[in-house]
Amino acid sequence: MVKASAPGKCILFGEHAVVYGQPALACSINQRMTIELEREETFDTWRLDGRTFNPQKHPHIEYIRSQITTEDQDPLHIRIRGTIPKASGLGSSAALSVALCGALQQLRNDPLDQTQASAISHQAEASAQGGRASPLDTATSSFGGFVVLSDTIEDGLDFIETRAMDVDGKTFQWHLHTFEATIPEDVFLVVGNTGVHGSTSAMVEQVATLIREHPERKVELDTIGAIARRGIHALQEGNMEAVGQAMTENHIVLRSLGVSSPDLERLIRAAAPSSLGVKLTGAGGGGCMIALTRRPEETVGAIEMEGGRAFITHFNEPGLKIERLM
Ligand code: MEV
Repeated sequence: MVKASAPGKCILFGEHAVVYGQPALACSINQRMTIELEREETFDTWRLDGRTFNPQKHPHIEYIRSQITTEDQDPLHIRIRGTIPKASGLGSSAALSVALCGALQQLRNDPLDQTQASAISHQAEASAQGGRASPLDTATSSFGGFVVLSDTIEDGLDFIETRAMDVDGKTFQWHLHTFEATIPEDVFLVVGNTGVHGSTSAMVEQVATLIREHPERKVELDTIGAIARRGIHALQEGNMEAVGQAMTENHIVLRSLGVSSPDLERLIRAAAPSSLGVKLTGAGGGGCMIALTRRPEETVGAIEMEGGRAFITHFNEPGLKIERLM
């Protein structure tokens, strides 16, 4: 048996606009998905958590299975464990894909390869998202820490690799970077979950339709890109007030694009008075919001008073890793 895990993520700046090549910043969170793989002894088909694996129901698992093959081709039993809630904007499906890549690499006795896991998982996510997916979720889950995507190779950041993909007939390129940020010890990120499922593919499609029908609204994606760039520089400089302000501005543009929801707005309003900045995170339409705060307990309490579930997360959680077997 082998076991690998990968973290979820939250997006500090740039969701949706990043699909169209605008800059964005995400960081890993302290919730993870774990994949255990074992050779299937009893049945001659692949199994998923005790049931026959259905490729139609899990296209991204099927894609990864076809890309990282094991020599003997014997069926395997996949067990999924994890704490990242599904369809919450915290990258549970990207983390699952990345952890599966890591477990399959281990089964092949290959060295752990975060770059391969990031690339294969990106393709898998894109096919599940109707061909439109940035590599942000999968790269953050693979490499951990802070991940910046940009349309240019940025000075002052550590370049990882360039990824390209055709989106709506146009080729987009994302340059992936990471960096070490010194976050003041008294600043935390609080994640608040509405408990309402948001569909990433539906929200990405909704934005695509809006831009197709109203091409002038593309300016809002450019605005998100400009806010993201300012927010990333503020984070590098450790100016947390400016980071928070950019987060709130980013949220206002996301709301105008139509990807917020009444539940998200309620949690955001509750968290705002105790926070430096608040925004939805991920695809929206439900799912989670985040708050940058110096008063994390107060922020958690305010979100919970409004019926949300909240937790405090650290920055700099590790990316894909092999888990030791007990
Ligand atoms: C989803 O976590 C982030 C989106 O920007 C989609 C993507 O980047 O592929 C909404």
